[in-house]
Amino acid sequence: MVRLNGLCVAVLAACVSVTPAMGQTLRSDTLLFDLGRDLFFDPVLSGNLNIACATCHHPTKGTSDGLSLGIGEGGSGLGEDRIEVLGNAPVSRVPRNAPALFNLGNPEFVRMLHDGRVWMDPTEMYGIGMPNGHVLERPVPNALAAQVHLPITSATEMAGQPGENAVADAAAEGRITGPGGVRDILAKRVDAIPAYRARFEATGVSGELHYADIATALAAYIGTEFESTSSPFDRHLNGDDAALTSAAKRGMDLFYGDAQCGTCHSGRFQTDHQFHSIALPQIGPGKNQPRLTYGDVGRSAISGDAADDFAFRTPSLRNIELTGPYGHNGAYTDLRHMVEHHLNPLRHLAMYDPSYATLPALSQIGPDDFAFEDLEENFRIAASADVTTLELAPSDIDDIMAFLASLTDPKFIDAGHLVPASVPSGLPVE
Ligand code: HEC
Ligand code: HEC
Repeated sequence: MVRLNGLCVAVLAACVSVTPAMGQTLRSDTLLFDLGRDLFFDPVLSGNLNIACATCHHPTKGTSDGLSLGIGEGGSGLGEDRIEVLGNAPVSRVPRNAPALFNLGNPEFVRMLHDGRVWMDPTEMYGIGMPNGHVLERPVPNALAAQVHLPITSATEMAGQPGENAVADAAAEGRITGPGGVRDILAKRVDAIPAYRARFEATGVSGELHYADIATALAAYIGTEFESTSSPFDRHLNGDDAALTSAAKRGMDLFYGDAQCGTCHSGRFQTDHQFHSIALPQIGPGKNQPRLTYGDVGRSAISGDAADDFAFRTPSLRNIELTGPYGHNGAYTDLRHMVEHHLNPLRHLAMYDPSYATLPALSQIGPDDFAFEDLEENFRIAASADVTTLELAPSDIDDIMAFLASLTDPKFIDAGHLVPASVPSGLPVE
């Protein structure tokens, strides 16, 4: 959409037929998009002014970070080259893999995060369910805009550790909403930068800036910039018979047919937006662990239903070639290996080797780095598997790989041009 707007500005003649009301909306959409882009790349939203959304969701890394489990606050550099900063070394890895951000503005995407803990729900405040303590204070347009309220509150992702800055202190004390909360501190910080203030006013914000305004801009950017519907597969859906190679066509038939991938990876975005367990090995510090000092039970921590143990949201497979490592914890760096895991999860769980993951060295590692060796946890994970064993010939897997490659949108190969040269805070852009 923004491309069209850009074009519209460049070729004024093309705008003549646009009615004034429509022109107004387009203009404010563009302003919001531009604001969202600058905020997305600006470390101003982090406690210690040292990490931006884009650090973990970078256009050159398929809107992810190329790591199994990221180094968040306290790191320096991008992707596989990210290292800890001496004197501010991270105390933990980020517990889950940074997901890609493609098509999240599409109304089909009503559940965010690997465990769906942000979701559209008419019975919740402003129609969106949020984790405890993170209730929305203002209405926002969609689940995406609600989700972007969360990373700023996480010590490992963006806030930093208590004692380091006011945002981290507020987060550690559970002060998220209201005056003096994490959102309030960051909104005031952005409001004090004249370039941001003036541009928010131009989008219709009057009075004090609220974090909901920032979130709305971030969502406008993410939902538009990372819309990805021009892959060979899309051209095929639009009736172009030559769009897919014969291998990709065979792979598509297997995917939505005998290989049963489509039972969970259904529809044009390859997701049913539901939760299933494919018994991935546990790596990293884990999250929501009721039993261990590591581990990640996934959906059951949200639903309270033991049947959801180790279940995670079915990910969309758009641009899957670009978004590795794979799985909620990035257990597999190799895409084919990830696909093969589905065909016999128990065997692959038993044979798992941590060298399959991409984990940069950290000086402060805990027992979590050996979580995959815990036999009892592995039995529990194995018992949760919702996928049945399936024998496929290597040539069938080749075809499925060709189909997965047809989901790559050329727009996101070498997407470094999406990174702005500078941001209004003047902080460095990665
Ligand atoms: C340190 C790395 C890191 C940073 C910085 C970060 N994220 Fe994320 N992001 C993640 C991880 C990890 C998850 C998945 C967490 C989970 O599912 O529990 C995630 C999930 C998301 C999702 C949900 C995607 C989906 O498919 O459900 C969105 C949207 C998102 N992040 C946007 C942002 C925005 C906007 C910012 C900046 C305000 C940001 N992130 C900062 C690592 C990061
Ligand atoms: C029972 C439902 C189900 C079936 C059937 C299924 N998947 Fe999955 N798939 C999932 C879930 C759930 C995940 C995420 C698991 C996690 O993170 O723990 C996933 C993850 C993936 C990923 C990694 C995506 C990412 O972004 O990390 C790929 C690739 C994938 N599946 C491909 C396939 C293929 C190919 C098939 C058919 C051979 C298949 N899946 C069958 C549910 C399923």
